Amino acid sequence: MALKYLALSSLVVLYSLMFLGGYVSAAGLGLTCPEWPLCPDGLMPGEAYLVEWTHRLVAAVAGAMIVATAVCSWFNRNSYRTIRVTSVTAAALVVVQITLGAVVIDTLLHAVLVAIHLGIGILLFAMMLLTTLFAFRIDRQPPIKTEA
Ligand code: HEM
Repeated sequence: MALKYLALSSLVVLYSLMFLGGYVSAAGLGLTCPEWPLCPDGLMPGEAYLVEWTHRLVAAVAGAMIVATAVCSWFNRNSYRTIRVTSVTAAALVVVQITLGAVVIDTLLHAVLVAIHLGIGILLFAMMLLTTLFAFRIDRQPPIKTEA
Protein backbone atom coordinates (compact mmCIF):
# COMPACT_ATOMS: atom_id res chain seq x y z
CA MET A 1 0.00 0.00 0.00
CA ALA A 2 2.63 2.55 1.08
CA LEU A 3 4.95 1.37 -1.70
CA LYS A 4 2.77 2.68 -4.52
CA TYR A 5 2.53 6.14 -2.95
CA LEU A 6 6.27 6.23 -2.24
CA ALA A 7 7.02 5.23 -5.85
CA LEU A 8 4.53 7.76 -7.23
CA SER A 9 5.83 10.64 -5.10
CA SER A 10 9.43 9.75 -6.07
CA LEU A 11 8.37 9.91 -9.71
CA VAL A 12 6.78 13.36 -9.22
CA VAL A 13 9.88 14.70 -7.40
CA LEU A 14 12.11 13.21 -10.14
CA TYR A 15 10.04 14.85 -12.89
CA SER A 16 10.29 18.24 -11.12
CA LEU A 17 14.05 17.75 -10.80
CA MET A 18 14.43 17.08 -14.53
CA PHE A 19 12.30 20.14 -15.32
CA LEU A 20 14.54 22.22 -13.05
CA GLY A 21 17.67 20.73 -14.67
CA GLY A 22 16.37 21.77 -18.09
CA TYR A 23 15.90 25.29 -16.76
CA VAL A 24 19.41 25.37 -15.22
CA SER A 25 20.83 24.32 -18.57
CA ALA A 26 18.73 26.58 -20.83
CA ALA A 27 19.20 29.64 -18.62
CA GLY A 28 22.97 29.11 -18.54
CA LEU A 29 23.02 28.76 -14.75
CA GLY A 30 25.05 25.52 -14.66
CA LEU A 31 28.20 27.11 -13.29
CA THR A 32 26.62 29.64 -10.91
CA CYS A 33 27.58 27.41 -8.00
CA PRO A 34 31.15 26.26 -8.66
CA GLU A 35 31.69 24.32 -5.41
CA TRP A 36 30.54 20.84 -4.40
CA PRO A 37 28.53 19.66 -2.54
CA LEU A 38 27.49 23.04 -1.10
CA CYS A 39 27.53 26.48 -2.73
CA PRO A 40 29.93 29.17 -1.44
CA ASP A 41 27.27 30.53 1.01
CA GLY A 42 26.88 27.11 2.67
CA LEU A 43 23.55 25.59 3.61
CA MET A 44 21.43 28.72 3.02
CA PRO A 45 22.75 30.17 -0.25
CA GLY A 46 21.97 33.65 -1.53
CA GLU A 47 19.90 34.51 -4.59
CA ALA A 48 22.85 34.12 -6.99
CA TYR A 49 23.13 30.37 -6.28
CA LEU A 50 19.48 29.61 -5.61
CA VAL A 51 18.42 27.77 -8.81
CA GLU A 52 21.51 25.53 -9.07
CA TRP A 53 21.44 24.89 -5.31
CA THR A 54 17.74 23.92 -5.52
CA HIS A 55 18.62 21.44 -8.30
CA ARG A 56 21.13 19.80 -5.92
CA LEU A 57 18.77 19.85 -2.94
CA VAL A 58 15.93 18.27 -4.93
CA ALA A 59 18.46 15.71 -6.31
CA ALA A 60 19.33 14.72 -2.71
CA VAL A 61 15.62 14.36 -1.80
CA ALA A 62 14.87 12.40 -5.02
CA GLY A 63 17.91 10.18 -4.38
CA ALA A 64 16.77 9.31 -0.85
CA MET A 65 13.19 8.61 -2.03
CA ILE A 66 14.32 6.43 -4.96
CA VAL A 67 16.64 4.36 -2.73
CA ALA A 68 13.80 4.02 -0.17
CA THR A 69 11.47 2.83 -2.98
CA ALA A 70 14.04 0.17 -3.97
CA VAL A 71 14.36 -1.05 -0.36
CA CYS A 72 10.55 -1.21 0.07
CA SER A 73 10.12 -2.96 -3.30
CA TRP A 74 12.70 -5.54 -2.31
CA PHE A 75 11.10 -6.34 1.04
CA ASN A 76 7.43 -6.09 0.01
CA ARG A 77 5.89 -9.52 0.60
CA ASN A 78 4.01 -9.43 -2.75
CA SER A 79 7.06 -8.20 -4.64
CA TYR A 80 8.21 -10.00 -7.77
CA ARG A 81 11.32 -10.00 -9.96
CA THR A 82 10.45 -7.20 -12.41
CA ILE A 83 9.76 -4.52 -9.78
CA ARG A 84 12.94 -5.53 -7.95
CA VAL A 85 14.96 -5.15 -11.15
CA THR A 86 13.48 -1.76 -12.14
CA SER A 87 13.64 -0.25 -8.64
CA VAL A 88 17.20 -1.42 -7.91
CA THR A 89 18.30 -0.22 -11.38
CA ALA A 90 16.73 3.17 -10.58
CA ALA A 91 18.58 3.29 -7.23
CA ALA A 92 21.90 2.50 -8.95
CA LEU A 93 21.23 5.09 -11.67
CA VAL A 94 20.42 7.83 -9.16
CA VAL A 95 23.74 7.29 -7.37
CA VAL A 96 25.59 7.44 -10.72
CA GLN A 97 23.59 10.53 -11.75
CA ILE A 98 24.36 12.48 -8.57
CA THR A 99 28.05 11.61 -8.85
CA LEU A 100 28.01 12.61 -12.53
CA GLY A 101 26.37 15.94 -11.60
CA ALA A 102 29.45 16.78 -9.53
CA VAL A 103 31.76 15.74 -12.39
CA VAL A 104 29.74 17.88 -14.85
CA ILE A 105 30.52 20.92 -12.72
CA ASP A 106 34.12 19.89 -12.13
CA THR A 107 34.69 19.64 -15.90
CA LEU A 108 33.02 23.04 -16.50
CA LEU A 109 29.97 21.53 -18.23
CA HIS A 110 31.78 19.24 -20.65
CA ALA A 111 29.26 18.79 -23.51
CA VAL A 112 29.51 14.98 -23.63
CA LEU A 113 29.03 14.69 -19.86
CA VAL A 114 26.02 17.05 -19.91
CA ALA A 115 24.50 14.90 -22.69
CA ILE A 116 25.16 11.73 -20.60
CA HIS A 117 23.59 13.51 -17.58
CA LEU A 118 20.43 14.07 -19.66
CA GLY A 119 20.51 10.48 -21.02
CA ILE A 120 20.82 8.92 -17.56
CA GLY A 121 18.02 11.21 -16.32
CA ILE A 122 15.69 9.82 -19.01
CA LEU A 123 16.66 6.20 -18.23
CA LEU A 124 16.11 6.88 -14.53
CA PHE A 125 12.67 8.34 -15.22
CA ALA A 126 11.76 5.28 -17.32
CA MET A 127 12.83 2.90 -14.50
CA MET A 128 10.81 4.86 -11.91
CA LEU A 129 7.75 4.98 -14.16
CA LEU A 130 7.87 1.18 -14.56
CA THR A 131 8.45 0.74 -10.81
CA THR A 132 5.39 2.90 -10.09
CA LEU A 133 3.20 0.95 -12.53
CA PHE A 134 4.37 -2.37 -11.03
CA ALA A 135 3.76 -1.05 -7.49
CA PHE A 136 0.14 -0.21 -8.39
CA ARG A 137 -0.24 -3.69 -9.90
CA ILE A 138 1.08 -5.34 -6.70
CA ASP A 139 -1.48 -3.40 -4.70
CA ARG A 140 -4.33 -4.91 -6.74
CA GLN A 141 -3.16 -8.48 -6.07
CA PRO A 142 -4.51 -10.44 -3.08
CA PRO A 143 -1.83 -10.69 -0.35
CA ILE A 144 0.29 -13.88 -0.30
CA LYS A 145 -0.77 -16.05 2.66
CA THR A 146 2.01 -17.16 5.00
CA GLU A 147 1.60 -20.20 7.22
CA ALA A 148 1.10 -19.46 10.92
C1 HEM B 1 18.86 12.43 -9.67
C2 HEM B 1 19.68 13.41 -9.86
C3 HEM B 1 19.66 14.35 -11.05
C4 HEM B 1 18.86 14.36 -12.17
C5 HEM B 1 17.72 13.42 -12.55
C6 HEM B 1 19.30 15.49 -12.97
C7 HEM B 1 18.73 15.85 -14.18
C8 HEM B 1 19.16 16.91 -14.95
C9 HEM B 1 18.62 17.27 -16.23
C10 HEM B 1 17.48 16.54 -16.95
C11 HEM B 1 19.30 18.34 -16.67
C12 HEM B 1 19.08 19.08 -18.00
C13 HEM B 1 20.14 18.57 -18.99
C14 HEM B 1 20.02 19.20 -20.33
O1 HEM B 1 19.06 19.94 -20.61
O2 HEM B 1 20.90 18.95 -21.17
C15 HEM B 1 20.28 18.69 -15.67
C16 HEM B 1 21.17 19.73 -15.74
C17 HEM B 1 22.19 19.95 -14.85
N1 HEM B 1 22.46 19.22 -13.71
FE1 HEM B 1 21.40 17.68 -13.02
N2 HEM B 1 20.33 16.10 -12.32
C18 HEM B 1 20.58 15.43 -11.15
C19 HEM B 1 21.54 15.72 -10.21
C20 HEM B 1 22.47 16.70 -10.32
C21 HEM B 1 23.49 16.98 -9.35
C22 HEM B 1 23.67 16.27 -8.00
C23 HEM B 1 24.23 17.98 -9.85
C24 HEM B 1 25.46 18.55 -9.20
C25 HEM B 1 25.72 19.43 -8.61
C26 HEM B 1 23.69 18.37 -11.13
C27 HEM B 1 24.17 19.36 -11.96
C28 HEM B 1 23.57 19.76 -13.12
C29 HEM B 1 24.04 20.89 -13.90
C30 HEM B 1 25.23 21.78 -13.60
C31 HEM B 1 23.17 21.00 -14.99
C32 HEM B 1 23.22 22.06 -16.10
C33 HEM B 1 24.13 21.61 -17.22
C34 HEM B 1 24.21 22.73 -18.25
O3 HEM B 1 24.35 23.89 -17.89
O4 HEM B 1 24.14 22.42 -19.45
N3 HEM B 1 22.61 17.54 -11.39
N4 HEM B 1 20.18 17.78 -14.62
